[in-house]
This record gives sequence, structure tokens and C-alpha cells, in this order.
Amino acid sequence: MKIIVYLGTGGVGKTSVAAASALALARTGVRSMVITTDPSLRLRTALGLADGITEQQVPLPDSEDAGELWAALLDVRATLDEAVRLYARAGMAQRILDHPIYATIASSLVGMQELMAVERIDQLRLRGFDRIIVDTAPSRHAFEILDKPALFADLSSSRKVKLVGRTYKLVSALGLQSIGRSAIDIYAKAEEILGVNLVRQVLDFYSIFYPIAEGYSRRAERTVAMLRDPAVTEFRVVTTPQKAMRDAAFFTSALGERNFPIGAICVNRAWLHAAPEPLPGGMAGDVLGWYSAVSESHRAAVWSLKEAYGTQVRDIQVFSELERDVDGVAALDVLARQIHLPF
Ligand SMILES: Nc1ncnc2c1ncn2[C@@H]1O[C@H](COP(=O)(O)OP(=O)(O)O)[C@@H](O)[C@H]1O
Ligand SMILES: [Mg+2]
Repeated sequence: MKIIVYLGTGGVGKTSVAAASALALARTGVRSMVITTDPSLRLRTALGLADGITEQQVPLPDSEDAGELWAALLDVRATLDEAVRLYARAGMAQRILDHPIYATIASSLVGMQELMAVERIDQLRLRGFDRIIVDTAPSRHAFEILDKPALFADLSSSRKVKLVGRTYKLVSALGLQSIGRSAIDIYAKAEEILGVNLVRQVLDFYSIFYPIAEGYSRRAERTVAMLRDPAVTEFRVVTTPQKAMRDAAFFTSALGERNFPIGAICVNRAWLHAAPEPLPGGMAGDVLGWYSAVSESHRAAVWSLKEAYGTQVRDIQVFSELERDVDGVAALDVLARQIHLPF
């Protein structure tokens, strides 16, 4: 199993290039899944997905292609439900799913989107996808997907969090008398503010949900380790000719700081047609002259990028500006045929 993660600023073509990569990989005969963590759901139009469905198989353009192309939108609640079903202690899954606190946790916990992105990658791995292509939201959010699970793993193994879980087990087993004075103070204070019933519910939920959270941090640690392993994962930056140098500087250093390997920079929407020589006169000549000048500046940008990053980054790829929006498999196919993939 291999993973490709696409990063980049807004509107440069991450979703288009990610979906095109999944298509190109499916063509090689493997099962490939493109998953978007971007709540803006652009993947739906790029692949022509049905409304309301968060995961589906997409027919390949040539019927003789042997592989499978799948696409998914990150569904936070469904991912958490699946984690509960997979990892709850025997007989506990339904109790967790039905617990009044559960819905609140799933929908309002800050950072759940980022935590579940990593959980979902692991679930897809278990389901036997050969290639997982991750299409991210613009840069800051993408880095949170990498940073938050690592933070959470640290937090949930911290002594304080463990103590609360254990303390409550003691409370329910032995009654309040047997726990320390300071723990009683904490609960008394919380009960004063939140009400006895809610505190009971939260603690009850915590005691049954705790193994899931603890298991999550182990899985997140393992997934983050896979993302750091260049034999498994390639990070690719998508940019445009105008932004190429600035984006390359930002992303190579942001990824480097986190120890994630950057494998390719994809310069999208480059104007690659050659203008005729000599140029015709009149208005047509003006338009073509302008096209040539822009096109020349795009080539210069790619050249500078190769000069500056050619040794550090394995592959610098150029994708042409298409005549139409990338909306559906036929348009993606044009991009897919321009891609070189690492595996
Ligand atoms: N090579 C291209 N040629 C023409 N239009 C493109 C190309 N790549 C992307 N687009 C268009 O640019 C817009 C943004 O693309 P998208 O893939 O959603 O970017 P991002 O995911 O980075 O926000 C879409 O309307 C898409 O159709
Ligand atoms: Mg996008």
C-alpha cells in the first residue's frame, strides 16, 4: 500500500491533480482511492460524484482498464462510528454509539476533522486499497491534519488524562469515599457548574470510550510514521507558474520541519502551446504575442524552479492549462496522461 498526499494553496488544482493521479493509478490495474479532507467538497464536481454519497466507485473511461477508481469525502461521524465498531471492547460498541454524550463528541469536538482524516487513512488501508491519494484543504488545514494526531497521541498518553479515567472507574466501583480529597473537589466543582447528571454522564461515557481514544493514539502514531516513510508516502505540492517559487519555499520548509518527505512539485495550469512564427498581423497577432509572452514567463518560472529545487525534489512536473474546467472523468483524463507517479 502506498500513499500520496497533495498539498498547496487554494485554487491551484490540488483536487484536480489528486483525482487525476487516482485515475492514472487505477489504470495500472490497482485499487485506488482518492479521499478529500477539504470540507468544500470540490472532489464531487471533479469526479462527477452523486449528491449525498460520501464514498463511491467511479467507472474508468476505458472499459478494458483492469483497476478500480474510488472516491470519498471525509465523513467525520462515519469514521468515528467505524472506529467504535472496530475497536470497542466486546459488547461495548452499541452502548457507546447510543450514549447521549457520543453525538456531542462526534460533532463538536474541536479538531475532530483532522483526527479522523488520519483514522480514515488507516481504515482504508485495512480495507485493502493499494493506493490512497489524499487531497487536502488549503495549506494551514493540511498541516493541522499532520500536527493534531501527533499532539493527540501525546496528550492521551499523558498521566493527567489517564488519571481521570482511572479515578472514575474507582468512583463507580467503590463509591466516593475511597478517592482522594482533590479528586472529590474537582468533581464537586464540575457538578456545581454542569449539574450532577451531566457530570455523571460525561464520566460514564469517558470510562467506556477511553479505550477507543487510547487505541486511536496508537493507530495515529503508526499512520504518522507511515506518512514519514518515503518508501510508503510521497508528499506533492501543487502550484501554478506564478506562485511556484514562493510555494516551493514555503512547503519545502513546512514539510521539512515536520520530517515529511517531499517528492514532487506539480506546476499546474502552464501555458504550453507554441505561438506560430512569424506572428500574424492585427488583433490576432496582438493576442498571440501576449500569449507567447505569458507562456515564456511560465517556462522561465519552471526553469527557475528546476534550478532552485531540482536536486532537493525528485520530480518537477508541468501540467498544461486545459481549455475547460476539470469537471468529470474525461477532463481528468487529460491531466492523468501528463502525470508521472512514483509508484
Ligand atoms: N490544468 C487546468 N486547466 C484548467 N482548469 C483547471 C486546471 N486545473 C484546475 N483547474 C480549475 O481550477 C479550479 C480549481 O481547481 P481545484 O482542483 O479545485 O483546485 P484546489 O483543489 O487546489 O482548490 C477548478 O475550477 C478547476 O476546474
Ligand atoms: Mg481542493
